[in-house]
Amino acid sequence: MEVIASAPGKVILFGEHSVVYGEPAIAGAVNKRAVVKIKKSPTDKTILKSHDLNFEAEINSKSKKYYLKKGKPGIIRYILEALYQHHDHSPIEITLSSNIPIGSGLGSSAAVTVATLAALYKYHGKKFSRRTLADDAHNIEETVQGIASPLDTLVCTNGGLIYLSRDRRFQRLKINFHTPFVIGYTSKHGNTGKMVKDVRDLKENNPGTVALIISSMGVLTNSGKYALLNNDVNKIGELMNINHGLLDALGVSTPELSRMVYLARKKGAIGAKITGAGGGGSIIALCPDNIDTVASEIAKYEHILKTKFTPKGVYFQVKQ
Ligand code: PMV
Repeated sequence: MEVIASAPGKVILFGEHSVVYGEPAIAGAVNKRAVVKIKKSPTDKTILKSHDLNFEAEINSKSKKYYLKKGKPGIIRYILEALYQHHDHSPIEITLSSNIPIGSGLGSSAAVTVATLAALYKYHGKKFSRRTLADDAHNIEETVQGIASPLDTLVCTNGGLIYLSRDRRFQRLKINFHTPFVIGYTSKHGNTGKMVKDVRDLKENNPGTVALIISSMGVLTNSGKYALLNNDVNKIGELMNINHGLLDALGVSTPELSRMVYLARKKGAIGAKITGAGGGGSIIALCPDNIDTVASEIAKYEHILKTKFTPKGVYFQVKQ
Protein backbone atom coordinates (compact mmCIF):
# COMPACT_ATOMS: atom_id res chain seq x y z
CA MET A 1 0.00 0.00 0.00
CA GLU A 2 1.18 3.50 -0.82
CA VAL A 3 -0.40 6.60 0.72
CA ILE A 4 -0.02 10.03 -0.84
CA ALA A 5 -1.00 13.29 0.89
CA SER A 6 -0.72 16.80 -0.48
CA ALA A 7 -1.01 20.13 1.40
CA PRO A 8 -0.73 23.72 0.14
CA GLY A 9 1.59 26.54 1.18
CA LYS A 10 0.11 29.83 2.35
CA VAL A 11 0.56 33.59 2.44
CA ILE A 12 -0.46 35.76 5.36
CA LEU A 13 -2.40 38.79 4.17
CA PHE A 14 -2.80 40.47 7.56
CA GLY A 15 -1.75 39.83 11.14
CA GLU A 16 1.56 37.95 11.28
CA HIS A 17 3.25 38.39 14.66
CA SER A 18 0.22 40.09 16.24
CA VAL A 19 -1.58 36.71 15.86
CA VAL A 20 0.93 35.28 18.37
CA TYR A 21 -0.53 37.71 20.95
CA GLY A 22 -4.12 36.67 20.31
CA GLU A 23 -4.99 39.21 17.60
CA PRO A 24 -6.90 38.10 14.48
CA ALA A 25 -5.18 37.20 11.23
CA ILE A 26 -6.05 36.43 7.60
CA ALA A 27 -4.12 34.00 5.42
CA GLY A 28 -4.78 32.15 2.18
CA ALA A 29 -3.64 28.80 0.81
CA VAL A 30 -1.68 29.06 -2.44
CA ASN A 31 -1.36 26.59 -5.27
CA LYS A 32 2.17 25.49 -4.41
CA ARG A 33 2.18 22.19 -2.55
CA ALA A 34 4.10 19.70 -0.47
CA VAL A 35 3.41 16.06 -1.33
CA VAL A 36 4.35 13.19 0.99
CA LYS A 37 4.27 9.52 -0.05
CA ILE A 38 4.55 6.74 2.51
CA LYS A 39 4.93 3.03 1.88
CA LYS A 40 6.43 0.03 3.66
CA SER A 41 10.22 0.18 3.51
CA PRO A 42 11.91 -2.44 1.30
CA THR A 43 14.56 -2.79 4.07
CA ASP A 44 14.48 -2.76 7.88
CA LYS A 45 15.29 0.98 7.91
CA THR A 46 13.03 4.02 7.70
CA ILE A 47 14.13 6.13 4.76
CA LEU A 48 13.25 9.76 4.05
CA LYS A 49 14.14 11.16 0.67
CA SER A 50 13.41 14.18 -1.46
CA HIS A 51 14.54 14.71 -4.99
CA ASP A 52 13.19 18.31 -5.01
CA LEU A 53 14.97 19.28 -1.80
CA ASN A 54 17.98 17.13 -2.65
CA PHE A 55 18.37 15.09 0.51
CA GLU A 56 18.19 11.54 1.74
CA ALA A 57 18.31 10.32 5.33
CA GLU A 58 17.94 7.16 7.36
CA ILE A 59 15.86 7.91 10.39
CA ASN A 60 15.09 6.41 13.74
CA SER A 61 11.65 7.72 14.64
CA LYS A 62 11.80 6.30 18.19
CA SER A 63 14.91 8.26 19.19
CA LYS A 64 14.31 11.18 16.75
CA LYS A 65 17.84 10.62 15.42
CA TYR A 66 18.82 10.57 11.77
CA TYR A 67 21.77 9.85 9.56
CA LEU A 68 22.04 12.11 6.53
CA LYS A 69 23.15 10.38 3.36
CA LYS A 70 22.78 13.49 1.22
CA GLY A 71 21.83 17.18 1.62
CA LYS A 72 20.93 19.25 4.67
CA PRO A 73 17.21 19.56 5.26
CA GLY A 74 15.94 21.87 8.04
CA ILE A 75 12.47 20.54 7.35
CA ILE A 76 13.44 17.07 8.65
CA ARG A 77 12.74 18.13 12.26
CA TYR A 78 9.02 18.48 11.51
CA ILE A 79 8.85 15.04 9.86
CA LEU A 80 10.80 13.43 12.72
CA GLU A 81 8.47 14.94 15.30
CA ALA A 82 5.39 13.79 13.34
CA LEU A 83 6.80 10.24 13.19
CA TYR A 84 7.80 10.30 16.83
CA GLN A 85 4.30 11.31 17.93
CA HIS A 86 2.13 9.43 15.41
CA HIS A 87 3.97 6.41 14.01
CA ASP A 88 4.43 2.90 15.42
CA HIS A 89 8.13 3.04 14.36
CA SER A 90 7.86 0.23 11.80
CA PRO A 91 10.21 0.76 8.81
CA ILE A 92 8.67 2.96 6.11
CA GLU A 93 9.85 4.84 3.05
CA ILE A 94 8.85 8.51 2.94
CA THR A 95 9.23 10.55 -0.21
CA LEU A 96 8.75 14.30 -0.06
CA SER A 97 8.29 16.61 -2.99
CA SER A 98 7.54 20.31 -2.72
CA ASN A 99 7.48 23.39 -4.89
CA ILE A 100 7.05 25.75 -1.92
CA PRO A 101 10.29 27.66 -1.35
CA ILE A 102 11.72 26.47 1.98
CA GLY A 103 12.19 28.97 4.82
CA SER A 104 10.47 31.76 2.91
CA GLY A 105 7.49 32.34 5.17
CA LEU A 106 5.23 30.58 2.67
CA GLY A 107 4.18 27.78 4.96
CA SER A 108 6.61 25.10 3.80
CA SER A 109 6.98 23.64 7.30
CA ALA A 110 3.22 23.65 7.96
CA ALA A 111 2.48 22.08 4.55
CA VAL A 112 5.11 19.35 5.07
CA THR A 113 3.85 18.69 8.61
CA VAL A 114 0.18 18.53 7.57
CA ALA A 115 0.92 16.29 4.55
CA THR A 116 3.16 13.96 6.62
CA LEU A 117 0.56 13.61 9.37
CA ALA A 118 -2.31 13.04 6.92
CA ALA A 119 -0.26 10.36 5.12
CA LEU A 120 0.65 8.70 8.44
CA TYR A 121 -2.97 8.66 9.64
CA LYS A 122 -4.07 7.06 6.36
CA TYR A 123 -1.19 4.57 6.47
CA HIS A 124 -2.33 3.45 9.92
CA GLY A 125 -6.01 3.50 8.96
CA LYS A 126 -6.73 6.13 11.61
CA LYS A 127 -9.95 8.12 11.32
CA PHE A 128 -9.49 11.86 11.67
CA SER A 129 -11.14 15.20 11.00
CA ARG A 130 -9.51 18.30 9.53
CA ARG A 131 -9.81 19.84 12.97
CA THR A 132 -7.71 17.13 14.68
CA LEU A 133 -5.23 17.12 11.82
CA ALA A 134 -4.73 20.92 12.07
CA ASP A 135 -4.47 20.71 15.88
CA ASP A 136 -1.95 17.84 15.83
CA ALA A 137 0.10 19.62 13.14
CA HIS A 138 0.07 22.82 15.20
CA ASN A 139 1.31 20.85 18.18
CA ILE A 140 4.23 19.57 16.11
CA GLU A 141 5.09 23.10 14.90
CA GLU A 142 5.03 24.30 18.49
CA THR A 143 7.27 21.47 19.67
CA VAL A 144 9.81 22.13 16.92
CA GLN A 145 9.71 25.96 16.86
CA GLY A 146 8.96 26.77 20.47
CA ILE A 147 6.18 29.24 19.61
CA ALA A 148 3.66 28.98 16.79
CA SER A 149 0.14 30.28 16.26
CA PRO A 150 -2.41 27.83 14.81
CA LEU A 151 -2.75 29.94 11.65
CA ASP A 152 -0.37 28.17 9.24
CA THR A 153 -1.55 24.65 9.96
CA LEU A 154 -5.23 25.72 9.80
CA VAL A 155 -4.73 27.23 6.36
CA CYS A 156 -2.62 24.35 5.02
CA THR A 157 -5.22 21.85 6.24
CA ASN A 158 -8.39 23.65 5.13
CA GLY A 159 -7.30 25.63 2.06
CA GLY A 160 -9.07 28.84 1.00
CA LEU A 161 -8.87 32.23 2.67
CA ILE A 162 -9.07 31.88 6.42
CA TYR A 163 -9.88 34.47 9.07
CA LEU A 164 -8.71 33.51 12.55
CA SER A 165 -10.56 35.51 15.20
CA ARG A 166 -9.42 36.73 18.62
CA ASP A 167 -11.22 33.81 20.28
CA ARG A 168 -9.40 31.38 17.99
CA ARG A 169 -12.39 30.45 15.87
CA PHE A 170 -11.67 30.23 12.20
CA GLN A 171 -13.90 31.30 9.40
CA ARG A 172 -13.47 30.52 5.75
CA LEU A 173 -14.05 33.77 3.83
CA LYS A 174 -16.55 32.92 1.10
CA ILE A 175 -15.08 35.11 -1.60
CA ASN A 176 -13.35 34.65 -4.91
CA PHE A 177 -10.33 36.85 -4.68
CA HIS A 178 -9.20 37.41 -8.26
CA THR A 179 -6.83 40.37 -7.92
CA PRO A 180 -3.42 39.19 -9.11
CA PHE A 181 -0.53 39.27 -6.69
CA VAL A 182 3.15 38.51 -6.85
CA ILE A 183 5.36 37.08 -4.14
CA GLY A 184 8.97 38.14 -3.93
CA TYR A 185 11.36 36.09 -1.80
CA THR A 186 15.00 36.42 -0.91
CA SER A 187 17.49 33.57 -0.69
CA LYS A 188 18.12 34.73 2.86
CA HIS A 189 15.85 32.49 4.95
CA GLY A 190 13.89 33.88 7.85
CA ASN A 191 13.90 31.98 11.12
CA THR A 192 10.34 32.11 12.46
CA GLY A 193 11.26 31.09 16.03
CA LYS A 194 13.96 33.75 16.25
CA MET A 195 11.75 36.50 14.79
CA VAL A 196 8.94 35.70 17.21
CA LYS A 197 11.43 35.81 20.08
CA ASP A 198 12.90 39.13 18.86
CA VAL A 199 9.42 40.67 18.84
CA ARG A 200 8.78 39.30 22.33
CA ASP A 201 12.05 40.93 23.54
CA LEU A 202 11.09 44.26 21.92
CA LYS A 203 7.71 44.02 23.64
CA GLU A 204 9.34 43.33 27.00
CA ASN A 205 11.60 46.38 26.59
CA ASN A 206 8.79 48.66 25.35
CA PRO A 207 5.57 47.17 26.69
CA GLY A 208 3.19 50.10 26.16
CA THR A 209 4.39 51.05 22.69
CA VAL A 210 4.58 47.52 21.29
CA ALA A 211 1.19 46.60 22.78
CA LEU A 212 -0.31 49.49 20.79
CA ILE A 213 1.39 48.39 17.57
CA ILE A 214 0.07 44.86 18.06
CA SER A 215 -3.48 45.97 18.83
CA SER A 216 -3.39 48.31 15.78
CA MET A 217 -2.51 45.27 13.69
CA GLY A 218 -5.59 43.54 15.08
CA VAL A 219 -7.79 46.52 14.16
CA LEU A 220 -6.42 46.69 10.64
CA THR A 221 -6.84 42.93 10.16
CA ASN A 222 -10.54 43.27 10.98
CA SER A 223 -10.81 46.18 8.50
CA GLY A 224 -8.97 43.95 6.02
CA LYS A 225 -11.60 41.26 6.47
CA TYR A 226 -14.39 43.69 5.50
CA ALA A 227 -12.37 45.08 2.61
CA LEU A 228 -11.92 41.51 1.33
CA LEU A 229 -15.61 40.68 1.76
CA ASN A 230 -16.50 43.87 -0.16
CA ASN A 231 -13.78 43.26 -2.74
CA ASP A 232 -12.50 46.78 -2.03
CA VAL A 233 -9.09 46.34 -3.63
CA ASN A 234 -7.87 49.90 -2.94
CA LYS A 235 -8.65 49.50 0.76
CA ILE A 236 -6.94 46.09 0.89
CA GLY A 237 -3.81 47.66 -0.64
CA GLU A 238 -3.88 50.60 1.76
CA LEU A 239 -4.18 48.28 4.76
CA MET A 240 -1.34 46.08 3.49
CA ASN A 241 0.89 49.16 3.35
CA ILE A 242 -0.03 50.13 6.91
CA ASN A 243 0.55 46.55 8.05
CA HIS A 244 4.01 46.62 6.49
CA GLY A 245 4.88 49.83 8.33
CA LEU A 246 3.85 48.25 11.62
CA LEU A 247 5.85 45.09 10.90
CA ASP A 248 8.85 47.30 10.14
CA ALA A 249 8.27 49.03 13.49
CA LEU A 250 8.45 45.59 15.15
CA GLY A 251 11.89 45.16 13.58
CA VAL A 252 11.15 42.22 11.28
CA SER A 253 11.96 43.85 7.95
CA THR A 254 15.36 43.62 6.28
CA PRO A 255 16.99 45.74 3.55
CA GLU A 256 16.08 43.05 0.97
CA LEU A 257 12.43 42.91 2.05
CA SER A 258 12.10 46.71 2.19
CA ARG A 259 13.66 47.04 -1.26
CA MET A 260 11.13 44.61 -2.73
CA VAL A 261 8.20 46.34 -1.00
CA TYR A 262 9.18 49.84 -2.19
CA LEU A 263 10.08 48.68 -5.70
CA ALA A 264 6.73 46.94 -6.02
CA ARG A 265 4.85 50.07 -4.93
CA LYS A 266 6.95 52.28 -7.23
CA LYS A 267 6.11 50.04 -10.19
CA GLY A 268 2.39 50.27 -9.43
CA ALA A 269 1.51 47.66 -6.81
CA ILE A 270 -1.51 48.90 -4.92
CA GLY A 271 -0.22 47.42 -1.66
CA ALA A 272 2.92 45.57 -0.62
CA LYS A 273 4.04 44.05 2.65
CA ILE A 274 6.14 41.40 4.28
CA THR A 275 4.30 38.11 4.45
CA GLY A 276 5.26 35.65 7.20
CA ALA A 277 7.75 36.09 9.99
CA GLY A 278 10.23 38.39 8.16
CA GLY A 279 13.97 38.57 8.89
CA GLY A 280 14.33 37.21 5.33
CA GLY A 281 11.63 35.34 3.47
CA SER A 282 8.91 36.96 1.43
CA ILE A 283 6.79 39.94 0.51
CA ILE A 284 3.41 40.01 -1.17
CA ALA A 285 2.46 42.75 -3.62
CA LEU A 286 -1.09 43.26 -4.85
CA CYS A 287 -1.06 44.24 -8.50
CA PRO A 288 -4.47 44.77 -10.11
CA ASP A 289 -2.95 46.24 -13.29
CA ASN A 290 0.74 45.75 -13.76
CA ILE A 291 1.81 42.43 -12.33
CA ASP A 292 4.35 41.74 -15.07
CA THR A 293 6.19 45.05 -14.55
CA VAL A 294 6.27 44.56 -10.79
CA ALA A 295 7.39 40.93 -11.11
CA SER A 296 10.17 41.66 -13.58
CA GLU A 297 11.46 44.56 -11.48
CA ILE A 298 11.63 42.41 -8.31
CA ALA A 299 13.22 39.58 -10.30
CA LYS A 300 16.18 41.87 -11.09
CA TYR A 301 17.19 41.59 -7.43
CA GLU A 302 15.42 38.63 -5.83
CA HIS A 303 13.18 35.66 -6.71
CA ILE A 304 9.54 35.80 -7.63
CA LEU A 305 6.70 33.37 -7.39
CA LYS A 306 3.53 33.84 -9.38
CA THR A 307 0.76 31.93 -7.71
CA LYS A 308 -2.95 32.04 -6.89
CA PHE A 309 -5.10 31.34 -3.89
CA THR A 310 -6.50 27.84 -3.85
CA PRO A 311 -9.58 26.49 -2.10
CA LYS A 312 -7.96 23.05 -1.99
CA GLY A 313 -6.58 22.09 1.42
CA VAL A 314 -5.07 18.75 2.28
CA TYR A 315 -6.08 15.72 0.19
CA PHE A 316 -4.87 12.17 -0.13
CA GLN A 317 -4.90 9.09 -2.23
CA VAL A 318 -4.39 5.46 -1.23
CA LYS A 319 -2.93 3.02 -3.78
CA GLN A 320 -3.24 -0.69 -2.92
O1 PMV B 1 7.29 32.13 8.89
P1 PMV B 1 5.85 31.96 8.78
O2 PMV B 1 5.22 32.31 7.53
O3 PMV B 1 5.39 30.61 9.24
O4 PMV B 1 5.22 33.08 9.76
C1 PMV B 1 4.65 32.80 10.92
C2 PMV B 1 3.78 33.92 11.34
C3 PMV B 1 4.06 34.38 12.77
O5 PMV B 1 2.91 35.10 13.14
C4 PMV B 1 5.27 35.27 12.82
C5 PMV B 1 4.26 33.23 13.74
C6 PMV B 1 3.04 32.36 13.96
O6 PMV B 1 3.24 31.25 14.46
O7 PMV B 1 1.92 32.80 13.69
